[in-house]
Amino acid sequence: MRHFPAFLDLRGRTVLLLGQGEALEAKAALVRAAGAELREAARFAPELLEGCAAAFAAGAPEEELRALAEAARGRGLPVNVVDRPELCSFIVPAIVDRDPVTVGISTSGAAPVLARLIRQKIEAVLPPGLASLAALAGRCKDAVRRALPETGARRRFLERVLSGPVADLALSGREAEAEAALHRALAEAEATPPGFVHLVGAGPGAPDLLTLRALRILGEADVIVHDRLVPEAVLDLARRDARRIFVGKQRANHCVPQEGINDLLVQLAREGKRVVRLKGGDPFVFGRGGEEAEALAAAGVAHAVVPGITAALACAAAAGIPLTHRDCARALVLATGHTRNGEVGLDFAALARPGHTLAVYMGVHTLARVRDGLLDAGLPATTPAALIENGARPDQRVLAGTLAEVAAQAPGWTRGGPALLLVGEAVARRTAAPDLATAA
Ligand SMILES: C[S@@+](CC[C@H](N)C(=O)[O-])C[C@H]1O[C@@H](n2cnc3c(N)ncnc32)[C@H](O)[C@@H]1O
Repeated sequence: MRHFPAFLDLRGRTVLLLGQGEALEAKAALVRAAGAELREAARFAPELLEGCAAAFAAGAPEEELRALAEAARGRGLPVNVVDRPELCSFIVPAIVDRDPVTVGISTSGAAPVLARLIRQKIEAVLPPGLASLAALAGRCKDAVRRALPETGARRRFLERVLSGPVADLALSGREAEAEAALHRALAEAEATPPGFVHLVGAGPGAPDLLTLRALRILGEADVIVHDRLVPEAVLDLARRDARRIFVGKQRANHCVPQEGINDLLVQLAREGKRVVRLKGGDPFVFGRGGEEAEALAAAGVAHAVVPGITAALACAAAAGIPLTHRDCARALVLATGHTRNGEVGLDFAALARPGHTLAVYMGVHTLARVRDGLLDAGLPATTPAALIENGARPDQRVLAGTLAEVAAQAPGWTRGGPALLLVGEAVARRTAAPDLATAA
């Protein structure tokens, strides 16, 4: 960064304007808008700088410009000579003015036209009513500070009101209504314990497959409770100072038992924390999100679920396999190969029906049993199948063939990453998925 951005408080201060012409008049208008008193002069004399907070010059003889620049620097006064960067101690950015919101854009003098183009874009996206919204926030600042002394609670409250219905009212010019709504929301926030748990689906592990809502909520979290399926690249998107708690979860190796996770979520919420329970895929698809939501509801903890892209959708897309197809697959079944008391416990007769695509989660270790169950129920051994390991991640691998072939080869092929089995005629409709390194 060549120039350090800072905003000068010139209210009631004297600013020297030396010279003449349009460029200087433009600066005079800006300085006046900032509440400064102008001292205008056509010729330079050092005493003109007496009591000044800054100086601008344009349209004056060269020796006067140089003399001003030197004298101002000598006194440590900010000086700007229009279009003469070598004589300036500061530059004036392109400005978007929604007072009290001010946006300054600088290219460090490299491309002022580009700065103006950027300004036009920002002008277009910032609503004119932004000024009212910022002014409202300014007026209510002390009340909010008194009602919500805890920094995190105050930040969340302001984030909510500055982007929700209160903001809509202020942006549309209904300032009195906006202020009343803000005070109502403040009274509510003061009365309710602020703890909240979001059960958030992190998708298959690729950070750009998070939903925008998940991203926003991760950015607001105080604590993130996560497990093994959530990679570091996704966790890195959370608020930097959010506490991370790893609760494990690997097949048959639950670092913290489910009851312990439920209790932890309740306890953190009761401490007033904004908790994100971050889970691979979707929380409600083989993610025990239902159990956690039940525990939170039973404890009276406010909570919400943010869906994520479940493995079946992510793996199918990344491997180029359609899950439904008008010619051959009119139903999609999500099943788990996980055992309970040593039993796979699936209704194979229902799963072996023609015209289905079957997605089996957690099925690598029971793949032979799943195959046997399907074949016994009448599914042909030649039915197309694919095993997708680390789906939608850079190290994705695909083992494709018939159900018999995939089940036979899988034990020697798998590298232990999460893997999903897809079975059904639609699997044969696979097209290339060119942007991921896949091994077929
Ligand atoms: C406990 S379940 C969680 C499922 C998750 N809630 C979801 O909606 O995808 C874990 C299983 O999901 C599947 N899985 C999750 N992420 C995967 C990925 N990136 N590639 C392949 N399978 C995945 C595997 O079958 C894994 O054993």
